[in-house]
This record gives sequence, C-alpha cells and structure tokens, in this order.
Amino acid sequence: MQLKDYGLTAEQVIELTKKYMIDTYERFSFVSVRAKGMYLYDENDNAYLDFYGGIAVNSAGNCNEKVVAAVIDQVQDLMHTFNYPYTIPQALLAEKICTTIGMDKVYYQNSGTESNEAMIKLARKYGTDNYGPNRYHIVTAKKSFHGRTYGALSATGQPESAIHKGFEPVLPGFSYAEFNNLDSFKAAVTDDTIAIMVEPVQGEGGVIPATKEFLEGLRKLCDEKGMLLLFDEVQTGWFRTGTAMCYQSYGVKPDVVSMAKALGGGMPIGAIAATAKAAATLNPGSHGSTYSGNPICCAAALAQVNEMIDRKLGENATEVGNYFMDKLKTLPHVKDVRGMGLLVGVEFDIPNAVDIKHNAIDRNLLTTAIGANIIRMVPPLIVTKEDCDKAYAILKESVEAIG
Ligand SMILES: Cc1ncc(COP(=O)(O)O)c(C=O)c1O
Repeated sequence: MQLKDYGLTAEQVIELTKKYMIDTYERFSFVSVRAKGMYLYDENDNAYLDFYGGIAVNSAGNCNEKVVAAVIDQVQDLMHTFNYPYTIPQALLAEKICTTIGMDKVYYQNSGTESNEAMIKLARKYGTDNYGPNRYHIVTAKKSFHGRTYGALSATGQPESAIHKGFEPVLPGFSYAEFNNLDSFKAAVTDDTIAIMVEPVQGEGGVIPATKEFLEGLRKLCDEKGMLLLFDEVQTGWFRTGTAMCYQSYGVKPDVVSMAKALGGGMPIGAIAATAKAAATLNPGSHGSTYSGNPICCAAALAQVNEMIDRKLGENATEVGNYFMDKLKTLPHVKDVRGMGLLVGVEFDIPNAVDIKHNAIDRNLLTTAIGANIIRMVPPLIVTKEDCDKAYAILKESVEAIG
C-alpha cells in the first residue's frame, strides 16, 4: 500500500505521527513506503542504501521473496491459535534452530527483550529448583544492552543512561562487571550468583567483540560454580558475525542463548534455545505469552533461516565484513574500526557521529550512531563489496562535510 492508496501526502503522515504518537525515537526525515534487497525507498521513490537493516533484522534482504511468500502462504491458513494446538511452523522451526546451533530445546517469544526476560526467568528458577530460593543473582557486563522491559533493562549495565534513569528502582539481583575482564566477573560472583549473562559482541556498548579467553574463562567459571552461562545473541545471532550463532565461532557454548531480530526477517519473533538440563526448569504454567510461537512469525522465520543457510550468508558476512572493515580504516578522522562479520563499528576522533549519520542520509546512505563518536553498520547480509564501496564513498564525504 502506497501513499496514494491512502490519499495521503508524506507531510501528512509525518504530521499525524507527531500529533498522535508518543515520541521516543530519533526519526529519519522521510516516510518509508517500500523496501527491497539492499534499498529502502521514500515517498518520492528515492532509494537509500540500507546499512542498518532495520537494526540487524532484514538479514536476507529487505522483503526477501521467500520470507514474503511464507507469510502469504501461512496467513491464509492459520494466523493465530495460542499454544494449545500443535502447529506445523512451530515444530519445524524448533527443529531447525536446535539442529543448526547445537541446542536441545527452544522457547518462542515476540522480541529480543522478551527473550531475555525468558532467559532471566529460566536462570532464576533454575537457581531455586537446584539450590533454593536465595540463588538468583546474575552478573552482566558494564555497557551491555539487553532490552527495555524491566528484567532486561535491569540486566543492562548502564545505570547512568536513559535506559535506567527515571525508571528506578530497577529489579534487584543484578550487578555489572567489566566486559572482557575475567577477574572483574570473578570478583562480582557471590554465593548467591546463579548466572553470568553477556553479549558475545557488545553492540550498543560500542561494537566490542569479546576475546576468546574471556568467553572461555566465563564458561569455566560457570562450570566450577554450578552457574548458567547466558548469551544474548539478539543482535549477533543468525549469521551476523559469520556463524549461525556467534558463540559457534568462539567454540564456547552457553547453557541458554537468546535471539530475535534476524530470526524473523522482519516479522516479530524471538526465542531462547537451551541445553536439555537448563530447559528442564521451565514447565507448564511457569512461563507463557499469547503470541509466542505465532504461526505466521514461525513460518517467516523458517523461510528466513533456510534462505540464510542456502545462500551461505554467514560466509558472505565474514568475507564482505572483513573487506569493509579494512576499507573503513582509511576514512578521515577514524580512531578505530572494530566488529565481527557484518556487525561493524567505526569510532571517530570527533564527537560528530550524529552529524555524520545525517550527512549520510542526505547522501542516501542509512546507518546508526552510538553515543558521540561511533557509527554502527549492520546491513543485510546479502550486501556486496560494491555496496560497501558505495557506502564508504558516502561516509567519506559525510565526514569531510563536517570539516
Ligand atoms: C543485544 C541486544 N539484546 C536485546 C535487544 C532488545 O531487542 P528488542 O528491541 O527486540 O526488544 C537488543 C536490541 O537492540 C540487542 O541489541
């Protein structure tokens, strides 16, 4: 459906949005009416090169044909059932996730933050079931980001940020240790600690990959103390960093992993996947959600995952990501380029990330800014080296325009 089908102008859409929506987002200046592959189109059919992918969601390309077809097929037969009847898409997707990432059981959610809620709840109940009521403490990382609902925001190690401020008191039972510093995590663990929860690559924290020693050390620490290791792969999951789950490239398996974003290819779905031992703690009545495992979302996710596997998009993420990161190092004012696969962060030595982002939009490139001086790029994993060359040229101009 386009603007003309509604009899609206772009200005009217913006006006209605400003008038009737609570404003919590820093918007781009245009109305997006359609998207395809690597491009998003505005009301005048201007094409924007998409290097943010709906924030790491549209990994098989915007409006991927197979995902769209799966949605259309499913929507005609069964839109929603709640979790009383068994459904075909739930079963097939659960099998696909478990066999692809080496886990035993899946639990569906609707978003990243809800998947983290489920992971936190699982860990707390695992503590109660196995050690009694006092073992509920979870250590997470400073500068982490786990979502905006209360459990997830309490797990987020940014107490001074807008994520926490004004919403206190946050949930008790969390403390924050230095990312990539095993001693800091060891010091934060107490007799009451039941789990350690980290992102293998911190995204919102500035695109910081974990070291192998750090994740291996956390695994060992959890094993020694009978704790669960929880990985938040909401952003890194599903080939963003090369392998299906980022932990597979580190060779460090968590007890539970959360995922969302790229799993649904644009349809809202999240999940946790767990080992049989950890999963056994959740039983009928202990958790649930009306839309969890919605047939349309599961059908879309199955098509999305199959498409990413068939087209070897993980391999593309590694190859094109390395090419792009090398090239970005030659941008003006660059201080550091880091990331993994196609989760890429460029840190500048000037505090103008937001200006760079807006200059890039003016030149038809979409990225996101983190803090004062980092540009994050998470394009669809179908991106080519030629797309990266175009993005690089626009970014260069966008930095130069600042002076
Ligand atoms: C690592 C991580 N965890 C959790 C979330 C929250 O996911 P959602 O926005 O789907 O709730 C995000 C979103 O950016 C994320 O990057």
